Amino acid sequence: MKNKKFNIKTFGCQMNVYDSNKIADIFLNLGFKKTLSIEDSDINIINTCHIRDKAKQKLYSELGKLYKLKKIRQKKNKKTVIIVAGCVAQAEGREIFKRAPFVNIVVGSQSYQKLSYLIRKELENNNKFIELDFDPKSKFDDIPQANFNNKISSYLTIQEGCNKFCKFCVVPYTRGPEYSRPVNEILSEAENLVDNGTKEIILLGQNVNAYHGKNKDDKEFNLGKLIYGLEKIKGLERIRYMTAHPKDMHDDLYDAHKNVKKLMPFLHLPIQSGSDKILKLMNRNYNVKDYLKIIDKIKKSRNDIAFSSDFIVGYPGETHKDFQKTLDIVDKIKYVQSFSFIYSPRPGTAAYNLKDRISNQEKKERLSVLQEKLKFYQEEFNKNFIRKKLSVLFNNSSKKRKNQNLGYSQYMQLVRINNKKNLHGRIEEIKIEKSFYKSLEANLII
Ligand code: SAH
Ligand code: SF4
Ligand code: F3S
Repeated sequence: MKNKKFNIKTFGCQMNVYDSNKIADIFLNLGFKKTLSIEDSDINIINTCHIRDKAKQKLYSELGKLYKLKKIRQKKNKKTVIIVAGCVAQAEGREIFKRAPFVNIVVGSQSYQKLSYLIRKELENNNKFIELDFDPKSKFDDIPQANFNNKISSYLTIQEGCNKFCKFCVVPYTRGPEYSRPVNEILSEAENLVDNGTKEIILLGQNVNAYHGKNKDDKEFNLGKLIYGLEKIKGLERIRYMTAHPKDMHDDLYDAHKNVKKLMPFLHLPIQSGSDKILKLMNRNYNVKDYLKIIDKIKKSRNDIAFSSDFIVGYPGETHKDFQKTLDIVDKIKYVQSFSFIYSPRPGTAAYNLKDRISNQEKKERLSVLQEKLKFYQEEFNKNFIRKKLSVLFNNSSKKRKNQNLGYSQYMQLVRINNKKNLHGRIEEIKIEKSFYKSLEANLII
């Protein structure tokens, strides 16, 4: 197994990125080597996303490419193992073998701890394997903590799954019921990350602020309390969390925003729609008034906090009036960055069979109007910082150009600094000179 190489391609959200790092740890622990070239790799893993139909289609176009490669390698007597992991694996299971019989292993999003066993078996026997159990506890317990992925900014999943069942969403089916990891496990993973160079931890969960893990004395912690615990870790400079659900904001979390300097003033709090009627049809369990109250409370804890959101346009039943209300909420909150999507009907969800009277053209137009507005506020926000100072954590690991440093401000803005000095891993005060839609630029450190 020593000379075998593996490649992982990741689609979807940050939780998939975190999982892919864990999957890489498993293969590295087995003695395999990581490669970025799919032509060269003996094991190809695709970590998939099922959230919208487009995301799912990416799996099948990727599999098409891999099939060709597999045949070419076969002619050279080289075996290629293809593994489909993640949310499409969980949702479609055996269907994947039917559509793509050349796939060797299908492994759902809560079964990665079984991968080292499955890959050994596969290399010995050439069988097909499928694992779709929901067992998040053993997923986290049985994957060794490893130091292969030392990063300046690291994801740490603290909560998985969802019990909220918004009518449009597949997550409760692909990730299963809500599960919170124990406090000590999270703190020890965080300490390990920091010992290996991490300066920023981004706590992850499908509803990260629904977190309710137990500590050593069996006392329940919420996310606010957990952040107070993480604050104590020496060498950890920044804490962020995502994705927060409006329903799960709580007093300890507001307090943490007020008192914990390491907690960054940026909050991704998806509203989805600005219309109470649509929010109700979506089963979001809050209305616009509730949401605005939450925003006020957070601002009272820390008034410089910047907000971002997710939006769905063209949900069945959305009229012009409803859509206008979404535009109104954007004008009110002035989100500094956001994700917006056209509603995609997902098989198995409650909204799947809803009658949809909005034309595709109309949906596209609404999306583009919304995105223009979001862009306007993002640009305005960035412009505000010209000649002002921002604190930037530099993380050059993915940069392409020499003499350039890349980092993120406390408000999650991408900042470029043209400077020969390598600032990787440092937090510096930067005076901003230029602003763009999605980034800021400077030449000097203060
Ligand atoms: N738990 C988070 C969101 C997780 S899914 C929350 O409740 O806010 C990430 C985003 O994908 C959602 O916020 C939503 O905007 C989008 N999304 C989910 N299902 C979708 C669908 N069927 N069609 C279009 N967008 C969808
Ligand atoms: Fe999906 Fe709703 Fe759960 Fe978010 S809260 S993951 S949108 S079901
Ligand atoms: Fe996609 Fe699964 Fe994340 S469906 S958005 S990868 S939880």
